[in-house]
Amino acid sequence: MHLARKYNIAATGILVNLWFALLTGCTSSPEKSISQQQGLVAEKAMVVSAHPNASQIGLTILQKGGNAYDAAIATQFALAVAFPVAGNIGGGGFVVYRHHTGETGALDFREMAPANASATMYLDSAGNVIEGLSLNGHLASGVPGTVDGMVKLHQKLGSLPLKELIQPAIDLAKRGVVLTEAEARGLNNQRKNFISNNKHLPYLVREHDWKAGDTLYHHDLSRTLERVRDNGRDGFYKGETADIIVREIQRGGGIISHQDLENYTSVWRQPVTGKYNNLKVISMAPPSSGGIALLQLLQMMEPYKLAKYGWQNTPTVQLMTEAERRVYADRATYLGDPDFVDVPIEPLLEPSYLKARSADISLDKATPSSAVKAGDLMVYESEQTTHYSIVDQFGNAVSVTTTLNGSYGSKVVVEGAGFLLNNEMDDFSLKPGVPNMFGLVGGEANAIAPGKRMLSSMTPTIVEKDGKLYMVVGTPGGSTIITSVFQAILNVVEHDMSIQQAVAAPRFHHQWLPDEIQHEPDALSEEVKAELKQKGYNLNERGRFGRIDAILVLPDGRLEGGADPRGDDTAVGY
Ligand code: GLY
Repeated sequence: MHLARKYNIAATGILVNLWFALLTGCTSSPEKSISQQQGLVAEKAMVVSAHPNASQIGLTILQKGGNAYDAAIATQFALAVAFPVAGNIGGGGFVVYRHHTGETGALDFREMAPANASATMYLDSAGNVIEGLSLNGHLASGVPGTVDGMVKLHQKLGSLPLKELIQPAIDLAKRGVVLTEAEARGLNNQRKNFISNNKHLPYLVREHDWKAGDTLYHHDLSRTLERVRDNGRDGFYKGETADIIVREIQRGGGIISHQDLENYTSVWRQPVTGKYNNLKVISMAPPSSGGIALLQLLQMMEPYKLAKYGWQNTPTVQLMTEAERRVYADRATYLGDPDFVDVPIEPLLEPSYLKARSADISLDKATPSSAVKAGDLMVYESEQTTHYSIVDQFGNAVSVTTTLNGSYGSKVVVEGAGFLLNNEMDDFSLKPGVPNMFGLVGGEANAIAPGKRMLSSMTPTIVEKDGKLYMVVGTPGGSTIITSVFQAILNVVEHDMSIQQAVAAPRFHHQWLPDEIQHEPDALSEEVKAELKQKGYNLNERGRFGRIDAILVLPDGRLEGGADPRGDDTAVGY
């Protein structure tokens, strides 16, 4: 059994309490803390997601004989009900899967820019970005991809009838969701935004503040889900739901049309893959930057054998930071929707390129970001997102990250349909060099164009060890997604942590610009902070980021769940 003893994260003094539902006989304890040594261990199958109701619905599908893809579809629809801050049918996302046969694949159900979108749509007459326009309200949304994505996933890989996978979410919507403290707080924090961005009073607002234990009913959403249950894709992109969406968009000055909804299509993509010692890492291809960036980071770190420097010690933090700085500079320059721009995937992952990219890393002092540009390639020619990881009893694995972009997306609730629209248009580069809500800058490759998909950082990932399934991992966190997944993998592989410790461990992040190491309050010791400052690093302590949900296959074949204690994340299994 893999049990990490080398690092006592509890020694950092962190204790994150969590309301933790005991949903099955297989859950571990009524309270999780960051010091927990090992996550839930199950014999055959597991679901780890951001919400206990959604995890339980996914598990029920597995126990009925459904496969991991069936469970993913049921979990996705359940999260749209139970976790409206990021779970969705009004957003998009990515699936990475590994079939028990070893075959891998990826599904891109990222939102698309409407046909009437343009590169200058968020700029004023002087060419400056109009603050908030790509973030809040009806103009901020890309055409949602989730329903099309789930239907396509089902067509290719599902085994139970689609209706049976959607029904539990409908039942949950009607029965109502008991709010956790975090959810009640999230809804209360957005009260003003819900009111100002809607023409009606959305059902997420009530006279008094929400509190933990209140029940939130989703009546309109249950009817929308029934239309999807009965008509599949057409239950969302055509007919009554499409009419309701377009009516909502038009009265708020948005541009998504019936034609945009009908034309939306999710796309099967080849995942990107790379090696790290004896691991094969399988991750999301563009339009996500996540997979390429993660592989670049891992491959740049491999020669350094980080274990010898120790977890979160100064040289480890320096090396990872310097790699991150260089990789995010590449991201800003080269990455975009592969259906619109030639993304140089192979050159960016070429070992000689990555070796050259790391050649000027020094342990003596920081490289200022102003001195780092995107690498010279041989080119031929919010933070609210959510992730779930599933392994089934047949050995299939699925890693899904899905998003509305910001918390509760554009804050627009489609009146009569009961779901939130995304604000994913902000993930485009609105103007070269101007940062988005995550502080990420971008260039021409990620400029807005009709029908284009905005660049993402989402990094749903599956790792093989010696040719066998080893890890399923991913997280929300905007620009910090990539570095959080990077750290979770290194925590297990280099620092001998259990997967529960790896997801709970405090994190740091660098993204080239701004030139600073952002870190959770307890991520770095006082001594390490002083050493880093002395070597020229800027440090910025910030709140917690990411909520990694992961599964590790233990040496004896059982599954260990890593459910992030930063949220209500829950592992269930049998
Ligand atoms: N909206 C966050 C991302 O796609 O990276």
